Amino acid sequence: MPRVEGRYGLAYTADKPESAARFDDLVGAYLGFGRDIGDRLKAILTDDPEMPLAHVAKGYLFKLFGSAAMSARAAKALADADARFAAVATTDRERLHLEALRAWCADDLDRTTELWERILIDHPKDAFALRLAHFNHFYAGEGRKMRDSVARVLPDWSDADPDIGFVHGMYGFALEEAGDYAAGERYGRMAVERNPKDAWSVHAVAHVMEMQGRHAEGIEWVRGLEPAWSTTNNFRFHLYWHRGLYHLERHEFDEVLKLYDDHVASDIASDMYLDVCNAASMLWRLEMYGVDVGGRWRDLTEVSLRHVDDHELIFVSLHYLMALLKGGEAEAAARMAAQLESFANSAATQGRVSARVGVGTVAAMTALARGDAGTAVDALLPIRYDIWCMGGSHAQRDLFEEMLVSAAVKARPHLARALLAERTASKPASAWSWRQYAAALRAEGRDEAAASADKRAEALLTAV
Ligand SMILES: [Fe+2]
Repeated sequence: MPRVEGRYGLAYTADKPESAARFDDLVGAYLGFGRDIGDRLKAILTDDPEMPLAHVAKGYLFKLFGSAAMSARAAKALADADARFAAVATTDRERLHLEALRAWCADDLDRTTELWERILIDHPKDAFALRLAHFNHFYAGEGRKMRDSVARVLPDWSDADPDIGFVHGMYGFALEEAGDYAAGERYGRMAVERNPKDAWSVHAVAHVMEMQGRHAEGIEWVRGLEPAWSTTNNFRFHLYWHRGLYHLERHEFDEVLKLYDDHVASDIASDMYLDVCNAASMLWRLEMYGVDVGGRWRDLTEVSLRHVDDHELIFVSLHYLMALLKGGEAEAAARMAAQLESFANSAATQGRVSARVGVGTVAAMTALARGDAGTAVDALLPIRYDIWCMGGSHAQRDLFEEMLVSAAVKARPHLARALLAERTASKPASAWSWRQYAAALRAEGRDEAAASADKRAEALLTAV
């Protein structure tokens, strides 16, 4: 089978010369959250059915759905890819991609990421490997690895490269997750200037604003660019979720519920895990803030019932579990909890995550659902400094910290006062945290300090 060269000098084994450019365009669509990623891959496989890397890409795209049902389809794509690779001579890069898919299908996420990183040493412009490594570092909670992964390839990219904006945006987001907000914002803004439709880069800057408590600015940033980023696939709902988070901080609950109904949960039936994560965490937060969410858990619960046996990503499974617990599906929730507990004995990467933090978080959420705040505190307190390993962003994982402090306010006032001293120091723009702090101080009889904490909350809310 001939070799054809793509946009960035990457060699592809393919029958048709145009397959290289079409594969590069597929990767570009993936980087930009295009709505036509699946169609693009289908077109390549129709016109060039033996192209080895196209079969690996099919497996990758199935794995990216993060569900047990799609993983089964990825395993079939891996078998097809094996047959194609056995029949023709391929490049080292293509074979490393095949091995990465194999490791991914075997639930060995550490090895999967290592293989992509190995590709990037020799092929720093393999944007598929770069974005997939970014994804896996993200769901391993490894902000520094995510940052360094992009830093290693950046000098090989030039301003003339059409996808350089995506690389800048990835770097911006990774810098933010690694705690460098100024540089993260700089790279994110640079990418958005180049391409305002680049939703991941808009998102990088949104994260910086969230972490720095710049809620009004965040609303303006996300809303101002909405005509551009809302053209993307379901990832756009995550940007509506971010806007909702700013409004939540400002206690603008009607606005949060409107965003929830109009956007965040508008496509729940299509069964995409990120939509469920957005929606479940938003409803759980709203309830912690004392808002009645009515019957909104129901649709989420319906979708979550299909994922009781999923453990592709513990972070995601926990969000399905939230919906099962809140939607009154106690039996399914118990089955899911048992499944995650038994998965904690597995050697799979996420099995170790389940053992380290999954089981404890499940116990805490189950206790909270039955109103047992004390048990929830006992389950979360010992693992709070390990929660990072379940991945997701700082902003997403903050939900578990909020669960801990709000449970402590109910069950352990002294601990709550201590935890909220810590939290108001690290998130001084959080009115909710100041209110919780006031409640904890009041429970200890420290009325003057409580009044002062309440004043901080009021000042933040009236400045809105
Ligand atoms: Fe985010």
